[in-house]
Amino acid sequence: MEIVNTIAALKSLLETARLAGGKVALVPTMGALHQGHVSLISAAQAQARIVVCSIFVNPTQFTDPKDLEKYPRPLAHDLAMLETAGCDVVFMPSVKEMYPQPEEWHIDLGPAEFLLEGEFRRGHYQGVTQIVKKLFDAVSPDLAFFGQKDYQQVLMIRQMVKHFNMSLKVISCPIIREDDGLAMSSRNIHLQAEDRRHALVLSKALKYVKEHFSQYSLAELLHKAAEMITATPGIELDYFTIADGDTLLPATSKQQSNLVALVAAKVGDTRLIDNMLLFD
Ligand code: PAF
Repeated sequence: MEIVNTIAALKSLLETARLAGGKVALVPTMGALHQGHVSLISAAQAQARIVVCSIFVNPTQFTDPKDLEKYPRPLAHDLAMLETAGCDVVFMPSVKEMYPQPEEWHIDLGPAEFLLEGEFRRGHYQGVTQIVKKLFDAVSPDLAFFGQKDYQQVLMIRQMVKHFNMSLKVISCPIIREDDGLAMSSRNIHLQAEDRRHALVLSKALKYVKEHFSQYSLAELLHKAAEMITATPGIELDYFTIADGDTLLPATSKQQSNLVALVAAKVGDTRLIDNMLLFD
């Protein structure tokens, strides 16, 4: 496994590798890797000859400086995990490398930018698309892999790819859950034992909605899910919605074919998100 820290070194390494033929896949991460990330590496390996994983905690996507400061950075653990997973190249740039000078970034991501996470974390998706564009430019991947757990993020990245008319394929991979249903997340590390127990209600509420979808109206499903979550101690619900999977607008009919249930809540001091496709 090669580890590179600069865009120039990365480009020259990939140029040589590309000459040998085959597709290049990118798995962008902010580190603090877990089995969800490993599943992205495996999916990438199945479709590409060279898999690049980036580890970069991107400051421009954090809307709360405290969140950026406490973001976990277990580098030795991450590198060991990537080595075991058989990753080919790790790109670990500095902030200076990715942002050599202050820069403006604003692109039209469509109305979904301001819904759900966009409402609670204003500007978040501008920061995400800013860094992902830079990573795409540095790697020029044929394929890029993201986790479905950040459902809205995948939509925003697809929008950015369309905006710049980029030719790579963005692939969303299924959420990986712990045995008890908790969606894997780098932030789970912050959960105290009791919070972790309480956090299970998020996946339980999503599962309840999926399993009872044919039985109840949209309003009843939303009411029941919100009730389950707000009845759990230590949880502050930001939203629970059943939305159109493309626009993220609230579903108006159960007949819509592409519905997804999405939730965000603060569990103790940790904000978690999760979602479930209602038809898959
Ligand atoms: O999902 C993440 O870890 C980040 O938002 C990403 C896509 C690596 C951009 O910093």
